Amino acid sequence: MGKTVIRTAIDVGTTKICTVVADVTDRSTVRVLGTGVVHSEGIHKGMVVSINEVKGAIRESMKIAEMSSGCKIDSAYVAVSGNHIGSLNNHRMVTIERSDRLVCRDDLKKVLQSAQNIDVSSDKQLLHVIPRSYSLDGQPGMRNPVGMYGSRLDLETHIVTAAVTSVKNLVKCVRGAGVDVDGLIFSSLASSEAVLSEHEKELGVIMADIGSGTTDIAIYKEGSVSHTAVLPVGGYQLTRDISISLGLPTAVAEVAKRKYANLTEDVTAERKDPVSLAIENGYNIMHQDLYEVVRARMEEIVKLIAMEMPRSEYISMVPTGMVLTGGTSNLPGLAQMAQDILQMPVRVGAPKDVGGLADSLYAPSYATSVGLLLWGVRNDEEVIKLNGRKSFLSRLMFKLRRPAKVEKEKPYDSGLAKGDSNGKNNS
Ligand SMILES: Nc1ncnc2c1ncn2[C@@H]1O[C@H](COP(=O)(O)OP(=O)(O)OP(=O)(O)O)[C@@H](O)[C@H]1O
Ligand SMILES: [Mg+2]
Repeated sequence: MGKTVIRTAIDVGTTKICTVVADVTDRSTVRVLGTGVVHSEGIHKGMVVSINEVKGAIRESMKIAEMSSGCKIDSAYVAVSGNHIGSLNNHRMVTIERSDRLVCRDDLKKVLQSAQNIDVSSDKQLLHVIPRSYSLDGQPGMRNPVGMYGSRLDLETHIVTAAVTSVKNLVKCVRGAGVDVDGLIFSSLASSEAVLSEHEKELGVIMADIGSGTTDIAIYKEGSVSHTAVLPVGGYQLTRDISISLGLPTAVAEVAKRKYANLTEDVTAERKDPVSLAIENGYNIMHQDLYEVVRARMEEIVKLIAMEMPRSEYISMVPTGMVLTGGTSNLPGLAQMAQDILQMPVRVGAPKDVGGLADSLYAPSYATSVGLLLWGVRNDEEVIKLNGRKSFLSRLMFKLRRPAKVEKEKPYDSGLAKGDSNGKNNS
C-alpha cells in the first residue's frame, strides 16, 4: 500500500460540530476513519458568541472522532462562515517586456504574486485568492500561457475576505480545544467541493448550502468560482416562524418541522383535510397552517439565493441550475418548489468522493465537513508530494488555492486556569 497521511476537518456549524478524520493516499483518495458529531453550543448565524461553549463542544466532538478513528488529532482544516465574509473578483496584469515577447515562468509568478498583494481594510483579512482564468493580449480562456507569444498577461481572481476578529475568535476556540489550524476554508467553497461535479462547474451552477443560521452560496462558471456570498438566514428562522405563527415552543416547532413539513405538490389534497397533526406534548397544529408558514419562508430564501445572480444572465449563467445542500435541503419538496419558482433545474446534493466509514456522512448536512477535507487535501503540500512532481503551473496554482494559513504563534491566552493555554491537558 502507498504512503498515506492523516487529515482532519472540523465544521463548527450553528446546530452541530462535526469532526472528520481520514487517511489520504492522494488528492482523490480520501478514506474516512472516524467522525464525531455533537450539538453545537455558542454559535449564532455561523459565528462564535461564546468561546468557552464552542471550545467545549469542539473538544467533545474531537474526543468522539479520536475514539472512532483511533487517531490522535493534532491539527485540522476549519470552516469559516458568517455574514462578515466578503468577496470580489479582481484582475491583475503584467506586460511582457522582453523583446521576444515569449511568456515565461517569471511572468506567471509575477502576475500571481501581484494577485496576492491586495489591500484589505485593517479589520479584514484575506481568506482565499483563487485564480479563475488567464488571458493573453485580450484573448481569454488561456490554460497555460507559458511559452506563448504576447505582450500583456491578465489574471482574473476571486477573492474572499473575513473579519479579523471573527476569525480570531474561531481560531481561539479550536486552539483552546487543543488543535492547531492547518488552514481556514470558506464554507461555500468546501460544500461546493463535496456536492458539485466538474461538469456542473464547467457549464455553470449555483450551489446553496442552507444550514441553520446561514445560507452559504457559490456560483461557478467555466470551471472556476465567480461569486460567493453568505446570507444570514436558514433553518433556524424557519423553526422560529413555525414557533411564532403556530404558537409552539421552539423545541416542539423543530420537531414539527422535521417530522411534518412537506412542500411536495402531491400531498396538497391531504393538506386540505381539516386534520390536525399530533405533535409532542399535546400540541396540535393543522397541516395547511404548517405548509403555509414553511412555504412562505422557503420561497423567500430561494428568491434571496437567486438574487445573487444578475437577473438578466440568470439562465445563461447557470445552465445546469441550482444545487441545494445543508440540513434544510432535507425538506421534502424543496427542490421542486425552487425549480417551479426559478424555472431552472434544481437538485439536492449530498457529499460524494470519499470512502471508508463515510456512510453517515452521505447527507446534505455534512457537505461542509466532507468538502473541507476534499478542498484541504487537494491543496495540501504534503498530499501533493505524495503524488509525485507537479507541473510548474499547478505548483503555482496550488500556492494560491491552498487553505488560508494561520500564523504559528504561541496559542492564545484563554484567560482561564493554568494549563489551558496550550489547551491539551484540560478535560
Ligand atoms: N427534514 C428536515 N426538514 C427541514 N429542516 C431540516 C430537516 N432536517 C434538518 N433540518 C434543519 O437543518 C438545519 C441544520 O442544518 P446543518 O446541519 O446544515 O446546519 P449547520 O451546519 O449546523 O449550520 P450553519 O451552516 O447554518 O452554521 C437545522 O435548522 C434543522 O432544523
Ligand atoms: Mg453548515
